[in-house]
Amino acid sequence: MQPNLKKTGWLMCLALAIPLGAAANPILDGYRTAAKQENPAFKDFSAAAGQKFYSAKIGTLACASCHTDSPMAAGKHASTNKEILPLAPTANPKRFTDAANVEKWFKRNCNDVLKRACTAQEKGDFMSYVLSVK
Ligand code: HEC
Repeated sequence: MQPNLKKTGWLMCLALAIPLGAAANPILDGYRTAAKQENPAFKDFSAAAGQKFYSAKIGTLACASCHTDSPMAAGKHASTNKEILPLAPTANPKRFTDAANVEKWFKRNCNDVLKRACTAQEKGDFMSYVLSVK
């Protein structure tokens, strides 16, 4: 292989590898597709909006009520006191790896807190925040 071609090959590998780095999450990509369908003007998710959503109390409950003020910390169920492992993949690498499980808990917890399902925008903002915490 000519040296120039070799170099181009490496650059192409790098270009492909970077978007697949730590921040990429196929579940988040799924919510991005859904958010575009929900709202044609959708641009992107916001970790800042996700952080607000995480701690916003609606009635008596917030996501933080069970998941604590930090997604890095282990929590406790607000009514059963059962331990809940940290939500942030930095602290708990199993998080946000199983789409069906993620959907199941978004469904249950959004209903508990908001009394309705979360929108794809809310789920994506929430995930962007939780995935960004280090
Ligand atoms: C009443 C307690 C409670 C509240 C409030 C709560 N959760 Fe949870 N959440 C749980 C429990 C219990 C689990 C499942 C046990 C576990 O995974 O550790 C869980 C798991 C999850 C998961 C699964 C993540 C994964 O990959 O395993 C997501 C996503 C989640 N919650 C999102 C939310 C969001 C968003 C809110 C706020 C709208 C919220 N939760 C509020 C108790 C709660």
